[in-house]
Amino acid sequence: MNIMVTGGAGFIGSCYIRHILKKHPDYKIINLDKLTYAGNIENLDDVKNNPNYTFVKGDILDKKLVRDLISQVDCVVNFAAESHVDNSIKNPEIFVETNIKGTLNLLEASKELKVERFLQVSTDEVYGSLGKTGYFTETTPISPNSPYSASKAGADMLVRAYFETYKMPTLNTRCSNNYGPYQYPEKLIPFFISRLLKNQKVPVYGDGLNVRDWLYVYDHAEAIDIVLHKGKVGEVYNIGGHNEKTNLEITELILNAMGKDKTSIEYVKDRLGHDRRYAISNEKITKELGWMPSITFEEGIKLTIEWYLNNQNWINSIENKKASFV
Ligand SMILES: NC(=O)c1ccc[n+]([C@@H]2O[C@H](COP(=O)([O-])OP(=O)(O)OC[C@H]3O[C@@H](n4cnc5c(N)ncnc54)[C@H](O)[C@@H]3O)[C@@H](O)[C@H]2O)c1
Repeated sequence: MNIMVTGGAGFIGSCYIRHILKKHPDYKIINLDKLTYAGNIENLDDVKNNPNYTFVKGDILDKKLVRDLISQVDCVVNFAAESHVDNSIKNPEIFVETNIKGTLNLLEASKELKVERFLQVSTDEVYGSLGKTGYFTETTPISPNSPYSASKAGADMLVRAYFETYKMPTLNTRCSNNYGPYQYPEKLIPFFISRLLKNQKVPVYGDGLNVRDWLYVYDHAEAIDIVLHKGKVGEVYNIGGHNEKTNLEITELILNAMGKDKTSIEYVKDRLGHDRRYAISNEKITKELGWMPSITFEEGIKLTIEWYLNNQNWINSIENKKASFV
């Protein structure tokens, strides 16, 4: 199989590429990434000489380039996105450009070139917020609350429409919060670790009791691989780990692992439109496609914290690059 992966220099895309090259040594991957502030080509240093891997720097909005690359593959897996909620609150426009118009551009080219499968990587955030009980299922109404989740929901709706209208073989996954190596240090876990390494306090939004479901990034990568091969076209598959944790619980885990205490916490004004609780049912993907998370949260979070502590050069290099983007 030849796959075009978009956004493969980011957190999840890079782990997915590493996973696929290892699991399917005969597959070829083209990674199209614009290398925005969140993209880091060094995330894939370990595979850059693999003859089955090609990196192309470019934008999913570039019609000619996208068409040219898709003509060389069988499948498209779209990770490329603006992905940080706080940025979407400050500057929603780029989220509409990349996440909605970019996806449209990929869908158009994939339709014309008749790709065998188009997989859109999406998020549980499109479902909005839950009360204290219940889970998002694939039939939960879409109800996004941030410009980020609204843009991802818009893309999901286009993917659905391309299946319904043009009978394009689309697949849509919606995953909960990922954690693991190579995550840009603007997101909770690497951000807090990088601050604590500098003896800075960690800013916890509101009362810290917002709940997220957490999944180890390589379990997400494997789920996407299974959906790409075995998923039914036109369907949505939720992916989650049944690991509901409050932000405060995650913070305390990090503090303990780094020998710090609660005095390192600084409570800050809550994020606008901050969803209270996400929790996702993974019943469909586990029952229909046989996927299961392979690692417990306790093991995964330990590995993750250790990875950041052992790769402080990676954090420093990202932060130096960040300074050049500002
Ligand atoms: N991180 C999570 O917890 C999570 C959970 C569920 C779903 N998702 C989804 O998974 C996908 C990947 O998330 P991530 O956390 O790896 O994000 P990320 O921000 O780490 O990576 C995004 C990548 O997309 C690239 N990109 C951005 N705009 C582009 C463009 N116009 N053209 C080409 N490349 C472009 C960036 O350079 C970067 O490499 C996103 O679609 C996100 O919505 C993320």
